[in-house]
Amino acid sequence: MRPSYFHHLHPPTIPAAQARWRHTLGAGGTAIFLMLVIGVTGILEMFYYVPNPQEAARSVQTITYHVPFGWLVRNVHYWASQSLVVVSAVHFLRVIFTAAYGSPRRFNYLLGLALFVLTLMLDFTGYILRWDMDICWPLTTGTNLLKIIPFVGEFLFRVAIGGGEACATALLRFYTWHIFGLTILIVILGFWHAFRVRRDGGIAVPPPTLRIHAERISRNELVRREILMMFIVSIVLILLSIFFPAPIAPAMTGKPNPNAEAHAPWFFLWVQQMLKWGDPLIFGVLVPLGILTFFALIPYIFPKPDDADIGRWFPKSNRVVQVIVGLIVAYILILTLQR
Ligand code: HEM
Repeated sequence: MRPSYFHHLHPPTIPAAQARWRHTLGAGGTAIFLMLVIGVTGILEMFYYVPNPQEAARSVQTITYHVPFGWLVRNVHYWASQSLVVVSAVHFLRVIFTAAYGSPRRFNYLLGLALFVLTLMLDFTGYILRWDMDICWPLTTGTNLLKIIPFVGEFLFRVAIGGGEACATALLRFYTWHIFGLTILIVILGFWHAFRVRRDGGIAVPPPTLRIHAERISRNELVRREILMMFIVSIVLILLSIFFPAPIAPAMTGKPNPNAEAHAPWFFLWVQQMLKWGDPLIFGVLVPLGILTFFALIPYIFPKPDDADIGRWFPKSNRVVQVIVGLIVAYILILTLQR
């Protein structure tokens, strides 16, 4: 009999080395749990959110100030989605720094990268749904960047906002992309990515002959660790939601907020910083796309790390990849912090 999806992800036993916190950092599992939390809180918000330019910001205020526990649902949704960006970036770095991207995991690495891009797109479209004064600048700048892409720009712009002035008409498109198009894609790729982890032989660790410890852990122990992780993440999300509420500003008037400094969501601040340097096609489109393409090609252009190194932190045989990715991440962080 074929195992169920749950049993496929949780075989009767797995090598203990594949489930060590200090190896996986629990980041992939945490990302899946955050997606679940985002899905549930997002569905709850849909009962009150009105995707109409005249009423959207007011409905967010209703959720925050009038609906019982609405503030908690909204804040948890907000914090889970911000955390998902950070946690999947940490997971990506873990995969790079433990040399876990090589064959047979090359395809799953690409699925992971696609998940990361979808996470950013979901965060950006969700940010726009607030439809308050602060979102007009990032919405206009972001969609104008689409427009300047040679050959396909005009088409992408139309797909994204449906034509017209972004700050007047884009809401329904962004709403549909956010709760429908992007969500369906991320759910499908999320299931596929997790499925492929086991299909590729589980988390990358040195082959049995090179392993120092041979012990295995049971399915129950694996599930116990996952529940512990979910419990800790839930507490962190609730604490963040209580002490640091999600931002809220007056409703959109069709113009940028005169009292607020115009800025992109935090995960695109580095692009905003580069836009100050000149040509938006180069700094707003080509550089970010170049970095993404480079990340996607890593398993294909660099030699496969030595078997004995796979699943070890900072092994020698993929030092070049570690250094280049480290420099790119430092570059992004420095630009982000300059804002
Ligand atoms: C929202 C995004 C993501 C989710 C939900 C997710 C989920 C997971 C899970 C649950 C695992 C197994 C447990 C673990 O390694 O912690 C995993 C492993 C893996 N992920 Fe992701 N992931 C995401 C993003 C990424 C990204 C951005 C990459 C790289 C570009 C990536 C590449 C991989 C690879 C190669 C493995 C196998 C690692 C190994 O065998 O050691 N994932 N992912």
